[in-house]
Amino acid sequence: MTKQTNDCYAVIGNPVSHSKSPFIHTEFAKLTNQLLTYTAELVEIGQVKNFVESFIKNNGKGLNVTVPFKLDAFELATELSDRAQRAGAVNTLTLKDNKILGDTTDGTGLLNDLIKNHNQTIKHKRILVVGAGGAVRGVLEPLLLESPTSLIIANRTVSKAQQLADDFSNFGNISACSFNELDNEQFDLIINGTSASLSGDLPPLPDNIFSNHACAYDMMYAKEPTVFMQWSKQQGAEIILDGLGMLVEQAAESFYIWRGVRPETKEIINRLRDYKP
Ligand code: ATR
Repeated sequence: MTKQTNDCYAVIGNPVSHSKSPFIHTEFAKLTNQLLTYTAELVEIGQVKNFVESFIKNNGKGLNVTVPFKLDAFELATELSDRAQRAGAVNTLTLKDNKILGDTTDGTGLLNDLIKNHNQTIKHKRILVVGAGGAVRGVLEPLLLESPTSLIIANRTVSKAQQLADDFSNFGNISACSFNELDNEQFDLIINGTSASLSGDLPPLPDNIFSNHACAYDMMYAKEPTVFMQWSKQQGAEIILDGLGMLVEQAAESFYIWRGVRPETKEIINRLRDYKP
């Protein structure tokens, strides 16, 4: 890490070189006339605390945290936002006044992408969330706060889906089921929050699961449409989206936490479609 005079931000991960966050935040800084640097920092496993301490000494003001350090970040935070506490996840650290403030911006990122960028509404919709890992936990609260008619979580390991439904039952009509129990059900919005797309796999969803005018959303993104997106097209979903918009929107929310200004995201999302790291 080189010593900097202006405010420093970074994403930490292992690996991290693939991260689009330096590009996104550098563009945000230009758009909003903020003087800052944002880098990708490869941190060795077990070294997060040491890294953060030396980053603070080098004018570090904030960090994004990616795989595999989200739990480290959660534990390192000296204060947690309510939403980070409930999500059990931290992707944004603010380093201020000898404090390490932990927050999570993934849920806001998903909602902003769906609602603001794609004119989707959640209210009165029947929603299926597929998967019950950390990525899903982070988006349940903001989804439920939009008052969908129902939100069902389907997962290969049903007990994990049930645990999430129990944990978030105070926020709305949420329940859990296995993939087998989805026969004859229809949904207006299906969100794939599994990591299956990473390995080119498709969660075993039944045919005819999309209602008329339904939306399919894969929280993953890749250069080509994911298998879930391809399958959703075959199944007649009207609007099919990947997680690139969510990535930029969660970054915009982090930037807002750190700098107090909300950058425009549309142009950066469009440019990232052609971005080569
Ligand atoms: P993340 O932090 O990305 O959410 P995770 O916590 O490991 O990662 O969760 C991965 C999710 O994808 C889980 O819901 C997992 O299902 P299980 O809980 O049954 O393991 C789901 N998943 C991964 N590969 C899958 C596949 N091929 N088909 C269906 N679900 C899959």
